[in-house]
Amino acid sequence: MVIGFCGSGSMAAAMARGWVGAVDKMLFTDSGSGRAAELAAEVDGRAVASNAELAEAADVIVLAVKPARLGEAAAEIGDVSKPLVSLLGATSLESVRTAFPSADVFRVMPNVAVEVRRGVLCVAGGDSASVRALLDLLGKTVDLPDSQFDAATAVMGCAPAYLALAVEALADAGAEAGLDDDLARELVVETAAGTAELLGDRDPAAVRRAVASPGGSTEAGLEALDREGARDAFAAAVRASLERMKP
Ligand SMILES: NC(=O)c1ccc[n+]([C@@H]2O[C@H](COP(=O)([O-])OP(=O)(O)OC[C@H]3O[C@@H](n4cnc5c(N)ncnc54)[C@H](OP(=O)(O)O)[C@@H]3O)[C@@H](O)[C@H]2O)c1
Repeated sequence: MVIGFCGSGSMAAAMARGWVGAVDKMLFTDSGSGRAAELAAEVDGRAVASNAELAEAADVIVLAVKPARLGEAAAEIGDVSKPLVSLLGATSLESVRTAFPSADVFRVMPNVAVEVRRGVLCVAGGDSASVRALLDLLGKTVDLPDSQFDAATAVMGCAPAYLALAVEALADAGAEAGLDDDLARELVVETAAGTAELLGDRDPAAVRRAVASPGGSTEAGLEALDREGARDAFAAAVRASLERMKP
């Protein structure tokens, strides 16, 4: 299977790294920055000169440009009758189908953890079973109505950044408390990974209860988080993301 990435930015790179070894070839375009060639060199793919060439050579096209570039990319790719995976945030399945009337259009919202095949990928539309199998390789795929993509994006597409901020803040606080910077980071990262696995089996309140014994140090920490508005801050982040997605 030959995958053609139209756009070679952060999300194209994450998906391409996740597919290394699983696909025959990956092709890339950009709008002149040279990122296509860099990414191609990294994943043993090939940068091609134009989106028309990409569309001709690929079995599956991955549309990985910013949403505002949909019209431009569609004009350059042309009306292909192949599977086309749109990663475009806040862009409905219908809009992409209108831009590519003959393609088998998938709308997919991945997060950056696809790079390590532990991503979440919300999926709408699309018929090709082989494309679906390719997406399954990158993590957990979840079928979602098109109308719920923005809400999902706010909690799974954007959330790696929020969780990374929490890790950074905890590690900084550990360093301030006297730990070596790298050690503090390692302790928090490993704790985040283990906690994520635990949360696959237990609900968040149960994990909190298991750590925070009455009158103990974790309870004091949770009370401080409540006082400082941690929950409200996360809710505000989701609301702000949703606001930014509005047309
Ligand atoms: N980043 C995420 O975590 C994330 C998560 C889910 C979905 N998405 C979606 O994924 C899409 C890409 O996001 P990103 O963060 O990867 O953006 P990005 O880093 O800005 O990358 C965009 C890429 O598109 C290229 N491009 C622009 N016009 C083009 C054209 N006509 N033909 C070919 N390439 C063109 C750019 O070229 P240059 O390199 O030359 O500028 C760049 O390589 C967006 O629609 C976004 O909503 C992103």
